[in-house]
Amino acid sequence: MADKVVLAYSGGLDTSVAIKWLKEKYSLDVIALTVDVGNERDFSAVRDKALKVGAIKAMVVDVKEQFVNDYVFPALQAEALYEEQYPLATALSRPLMSKVLVDAALKEGATAIAHGCTGKGNDQVRFEVGITALAPDIKIIAPAREWGMTRKETIAYAQQHNIPVPITISSPYSIDENLWGRSIECGLLEDPWNEPPEDAFLWSVSPADAPDKAAYIEIGFEKGVPVNVDSRRMDGVSLTQYLNQLAGSHGIGRIDMIENRLVGIKSREIYEVPAGVVLMEAHRALESLTLSKSQLRFKQRVAQEYAGLTYDGLWFSAHRRDLAAYVQSTQQFVSGTVRLKLFKGKCSVVGRKSLHSLYSLSLATYDKGDRFDQSAAAGFIHIWGLPNKTQSQVQKTEDD
Ligand code: ARG
Repeated sequence: MADKVVLAYSGGLDTSVAIKWLKEKYSLDVIALTVDVGNERDFSAVRDKALKVGAIKAMVVDVKEQFVNDYVFPALQAEALYEEQYPLATALSRPLMSKVLVDAALKEGATAIAHGCTGKGNDQVRFEVGITALAPDIKIIAPAREWGMTRKETIAYAQQHNIPVPITISSPYSIDENLWGRSIECGLLEDPWNEPPEDAFLWSVSPADAPDKAAYIEIGFEKGVPVNVDSRRMDGVSLTQYLNQLAGSHGIGRIDMIENRLVGIKSREIYEVPAGVVLMEAHRALESLTLSKSQLRFKQRVAQEYAGLTYDGLWFSAHRRDLAAYVQSTQQFVSGTVRLKLFKGKCSVVGRKSLHSLYSLSLATYDKGDRFDQSAAAGFIHIWGLPNKTQSQVQKTEDD
C-alpha cells in the first residue's frame, strides 16, 4: 500500500492538479481535506471533485465556531491590526487549518501534509511553521512551489489528466476568504496606482450606492467578546455573519493597502472586512471607557506585536501564549454596549456605556456638580514640572 498524504484542498485548479501530481511524483495516496472557516462554497461539490480527480478520500471539516472563538475574537480583544490596517483574516485561519491538517494526518496515519501555496507568499510560512510546531516530524510538501509550472502549463497538465478546469479561471483576482474577511490580490490590482474596480468586491456595496439613511446598531460585549446586537444574543459565528451582511450593505469594510510580506515583497492588498471593521471600532471604544491610560498605552504596543507574530506565522508559540494571557487579563472589565452609526462606507461610534466605566461625569463636567478640586492643580503642576524646570536651568543649550 502506498504512503498517504493529507492535502489542504480548496477545490481550485492548483490543489486539484496537486492530487494527480502527488501521485505521479511521490507515489502518494492523497486524502483531500477541506477546512470550512466560513468561506462561501458548495462543499459537497468540492468533496466530489477531489474524489473525481483521484483522491482516495475526501473530507470537509467545519471549524467555523472554533475559528471565531479561539482565533478571531482573541485577535479582536488584542485589537490586532497588521501595519495598522489589516485585520488578519487570512493569517488567522492558517494556524487553525494547520491544526486540522495535523489532526487528520495523525488519525489517518499519513506520512506527509501538502498545501497549495506558492513560494512567494506568507501562507506557505504560516502552514509550515504551524504544522512543524504541532508535529515536528511530519514531512511537508508544497507542490505548487515545487513543480515550477506556469499558469498555462498547469492548465495544460489539468487538461491532459482530465481534471476539470473551472471556467471562472478568467477571474482576474486571487482570492482567499473566511468568516472574518476576504483578501483580494493580483490582476490589475498589482499596479498600486489602479483604483480597485467594483468587481473586486463581493461583500460590500460601493459607498455611493449605500442607503441614504444611516443605520444605528448597538453591540454588547462581555469581557471583550461581542455577544449581542441590538439586545439580540448571538453566537460568534452568527454575529459575525450578521454584521458582515449589515455593514457590507452600508459600504463598510473596504481596505486598500500596500503591505510588507514576510518574504520581503511589498504587495498591494485589498480586503473586505465589514464585521471586522465594525467590531474593532466598537471594541476600541469600549476599551477607551474601561481601561486606564497606562493599560491602553501598553496594550497598543502589545497589539502591534500580536499582529506581527500572527502575520509572521508564529501563532503556535510561547510568545503568543504570553501576550494572549496579558490581553485576556486586560479584558476583565471590557463589558458594556457601544452604539454605532453605519452610513455610506463609514462606521462611527456615537455612544458607549459600561457598568465598569472609568469615566466620571462629576470629574469631567464644566457644569454644576463638579467634584474636581481645581485649586489642587497648581501644586500638581509645580511638582510635575519640577524635573523639567531644573534641567532646563542647569543644562542650557545653544537653541535656548
Ligand atoms: N496578504 C494577506 C496575508 O498574507 C492575504 C493573502 C491572501 N491570499 C490570497 N491567495 N489572496 O495574510
